Amino acid sequence: MEGELFTNSDSLQASMANSAKLLESIQRSPQNYRVLTGDRPTGSLHIGHLFGSLENRVRLKNLGVEIFIVIADYQVLTDRESAESISENIYELVLDYLSVGLDPEDGGVTIFPHSQIPELNQLLLPFLFLVTGSELDRNPTVKEEIRAANLKSINAGMYVYPVHQAADILFCKGNVVPVGKDQLPHLEFARTIARRFNGRFSPKAPVFPEPAALLSDTPVILGVDAGRKMSKSQGNAILLKSSPDEVARQLKKATTDSTRHITYDPENRKGVANLLKIASLVTSRSPEEIASEIGDGGSSQLKGYVTDALNCYLEPIRMRRKEHEGDRGRLKEIIKIGVERAREEAISTLNEVRSAMNMSL
Ligand code: TRP
Repeated sequence: MEGELFTNSDSLQASMANSAKLLESIQRSPQNYRVLTGDRPTGSLHIGHLFGSLENRVRLKNLGVEIFIVIADYQVLTDRESAESISENIYELVLDYLSVGLDPEDGGVTIFPHSQIPELNQLLLPFLFLVTGSELDRNPTVKEEIRAANLKSINAGMYVYPVHQAADILFCKGNVVPVGKDQLPHLEFARTIARRFNGRFSPKAPVFPEPAALLSDTPVILGVDAGRKMSKSQGNAILLKSSPDEVARQLKKATTDSTRHITYDPENRKGVANLLKIASLVTSRSPEEIASEIGDGGSSQLKGYVTDALNCYLEPIRMRRKEHEGDRGRLKEIIKIGVERAREEAISTLNEVRSAMNMSL
């Protein structure tokens, strides 16, 4: 297959530089861009998601770019067998989106679960003919997920979902995908599939754009255990929906160290630095400045500072959540409108695809 994937990996630095240029171009002409982004419905979102991705989406929305948010419910089944909590998690995700200000009612935001869009799912089939089995095998993010989930047996969906993710992006001709660096291989897949489709089936008039990654420049937020990335399944996360008391409790148990004087040293003092980073993100002060202000106040004073600052920052998010919580009817309505809008796009794209592939009769 032309231009084998994952044989030479682009450097992260190059992707960061491209992202910075892309952002400038979006600022200049938001009307030329359509953002597609999404999450798996595996549980409530936390402050790592807020700083790493949700706030970026809000920023893009405020620039006037149209945003499609896919709730990747099929993808949940890549590394688990039970579909038990999927629908509850979908409503939770919608609530999280509304609470941070990604509200379809303001216009320009479409939220939909991909399971509800048959024409999007149908794109998977033509796309499968555009990649090789060994490319699926080599995807570094898939390999890492297989390792992390410690699976007894690996279903074929685990290998194929990056192709399905390309359908998530390309069904609406999304050309900007805000992602964390773990998603870069998947984006490379989507770009390759778009390029190969156009080259093979519609060389004169390309059907698909090649979507670009928009990497966030927010530093990775560790969990309160200061060991791994914040993650609900690790029990080290501060959820967006936490009450002020829950935030205080999570931060109280945060791992720091025994040096009393507070300094910002991300290499050697991971726990302390992580708290300073969070404090910095919610106060717009630098971590160094906060560190020197606390100085000999030690970890307990630092934790108190972060707790108050973060609770204050989360308050408007909590308020918006309260407005929508308990109104299942409204959440369903939001999804229904999103599904209708997404289907319009998917139907039109599938028609173009059929026609390019000489399958319109
Ligand atoms: N794979 C992504 C994740 O695990 C979720 C996702 C599904 C996604 N489809 C997408 C992200 C399309 C961006 C674009 O987080």
